[in-house]
This record gives sequence, C-alpha cells and structure tokens, in this order.
Amino acid sequence: MLTDHFGRSIEYLRLSVTDRCDLRCAYCIPEGFKGFEEPAHWLGFDEIERLLGLFARLGLKRIRLTGGEPLLRRDITGLARRLAALPGIEDISLSTNATQLGRMAADLKAAGVSRLNVSLDSLDPATIARINGRPVLADVLAGLAAASAAGFAPIKLNMVVMEDNAREVDAMVDFCLEQGYVLRLIELMPMGDTARRMGYVDLQPIKRRLQRRFGLVDTLFPGGGPARYLGTADGRFSVGFITPLSQHFCATCNRVRLTVDGQLHLCLGQDARMDFRSLLRSGATDDDLVAAIQQAMALKPERHEFSEQPEKLLRFMSMTGG
Ligand code: 5AD
Ligand code: SF4
Repeated sequence: MLTDHFGRSIEYLRLSVTDRCDLRCAYCIPEGFKGFEEPAHWLGFDEIERLLGLFARLGLKRIRLTGGEPLLRRDITGLARRLAALPGIEDISLSTNATQLGRMAADLKAAGVSRLNVSLDSLDPATIARINGRPVLADVLAGLAAASAAGFAPIKLNMVVMEDNAREVDAMVDFCLEQGYVLRLIELMPMGDTARRMGYVDLQPIKRRLQRRFGLVDTLFPGGGPARYLGTADGRFSVGFITPLSQHFCATCNRVRLTVDGQLHLCLGQDARMDFRSLLRSGATDDDLVAAIQQAMALKPERHEFSEQPEKLLRFMSMTGG
C-alpha cells in the first residue's frame, strides 16, 4: 500500500503521455505557447512500463491516460495494452478532447481502455471556437458517436464552467439526458495566467438550480474521483460536480500525476515533485525506484491553495495533465 503523511492511500495515477494538443482551450494552453517539452525528454514506453509496473507492485490499481491530448502520442493503443497487462492494474481510463476519437475509439477499446472522459465545454460552435480555440464541434460529436458504437459506457462529458459558457449548462444537461452521457461540471482552476483570465464561476448555486429544475437527488456514481453526483430518481441521468474551489476534496485525494518528461507531481496545485526521468536514465535499480516512489509519497502536500493563493501556480494544466 502506498500511503502519504495524511493517511491517504494512493492507488490512482494520471499519466500524461504528451503535453501537446491540437486545441488551445483558453484555460489550459495559451495561443502561441512555445514551451513544449523536447521529445528527448519524453519517457519512452519501456520506461513508463517499468516505472508503473513498480507502482503497481506497491499498490497502484488504476491509471488514467491524459495529456495534453493523449491520442496525439504515437501508438497510444500499444501503450494502453502494455499498461493494462501489468499485474495489479485493474483499470485503464483515458481523458480526451475527442477530435481523434472517430478513428481510434474501437482500437482503444480493444487495447483495454475501459472508460472514457471527453472534454466538451459547449454545444455552440461559436463558443467552442472561442473557448477551445479551434472549430471542432463536429469532430467531437463524431468522436462521441464512435465511442458509443465501440461499446464505451458510461461516457462522461467534462464541461469546465466559466463566465463564457455558464449560461449553456442547462443546454448541456438536456443534451446529456437525451444522449445518455454522464455530465460532469468542473470549476475553473487558476492554472497559469491564461486560466485566471477566464472568469471563475462558483458551481454551488448552479447545483441548487439544476436540482430544482430537473428534480435531481443525491446519488453515488462509481469512479473513485472527487465528483459529487446528483441524478434522476430512475438512475437514467447523473451530473457530477467537481468543485476544487467552492468545496475542495483534498482530504480524500488518492492520486498522483506523472508528466511526459517523467516528473511525478504530488499535487495539481503545488510544486512538490520527484524527478523520475533522471533516476530512470542514470541506472537506478528497481529497489532504488521503489525507494524513490516511497519517498515521493511523503512529499504529498495536504491540499492545494487555489483559493488562498490563486497567483501561485505558474504552470499550465497541459504541463501537468488535467
Ligand atoms: N480548470 C479546470 N479544468 C481544467 N481542465 C484543463 N484546464 C483546466 C482548468 N484550468 C480540464 C479539461 C479537461 C481535463 C483534462 O482538464 O477540461 O476536461
Ligand atoms: Fe487540449 Fe485538453 Fe488543454 Fe483543451 S484542456 S487545450 S483539449 S489539453
């Protein structure tokens, strides 16, 4: 079992397989950004498999592939297959913007990816172009259809709520009710200047409004993440609220993040990290790596400080993985 100083057990790792993306979501990567990681620093599949195999021996159970946009990493299905085969790993999931999902959904399913989260901030092409930086709504909808056809169920749609799209929440609820997607509304996190400029919206009033309008009740939804769910009484529809600012969930945090260049981040909102790329590339033995993983757990901060110190974090979301 991997546990930290605050008694939390860590069984979930989010693996960013690239910091690049074909979109420019205004809260994530600023237009014109040039600071992408050099390919020479990307962990190779052998390095990833070795390191995560050791994590799994220590109690890691679930891996989520993220980015940037994970489907841009060459042979991501090959990596998924290798990670799904690691002893101890029970679940491989993936977060995507879905622009490439139309051609890849079936292969991902066959490779052992069991669950998909798709980012979709609006159903209005003009809002998408404004927030996400590219006119991709049709591609995303085609990707979602391919994912359903490939047998992914449930499919979760992630909508980051900010000033620009807050009035579109009800339209998104209607869409998800009709299509059978699980909706998750996410509060904007102040990751870099670009995100801070977008206009934070507190989800608690929106939650109360949806509860009344759609007659929703508290429900539990499997997933192991921080979302709190409301749903219809018949269980046909659920909406999750991910509220890192208005009601943070650090006390039950069960996760760590590994970036494409091999930095293990212990918290999305803090700088604490351990450099595994250097260890992997300087001849560390498995015992050395196991010891480093255990030391890293001790560095996990108690909580983020997004509300107290919104200016603190200079790295963008695309660097750490969402
Ligand atoms: N605040 C909240 N969510 C964010 N994401 C990216 N940047 C931010 C931010 N600043 C989300 C995306 C995607 C996931 C990978 O991370 O919407 O769903
Ligand atoms: Fe790309 Fe996701 Fe960041 Fe948008 S949020 S720019 S889709 S990595």
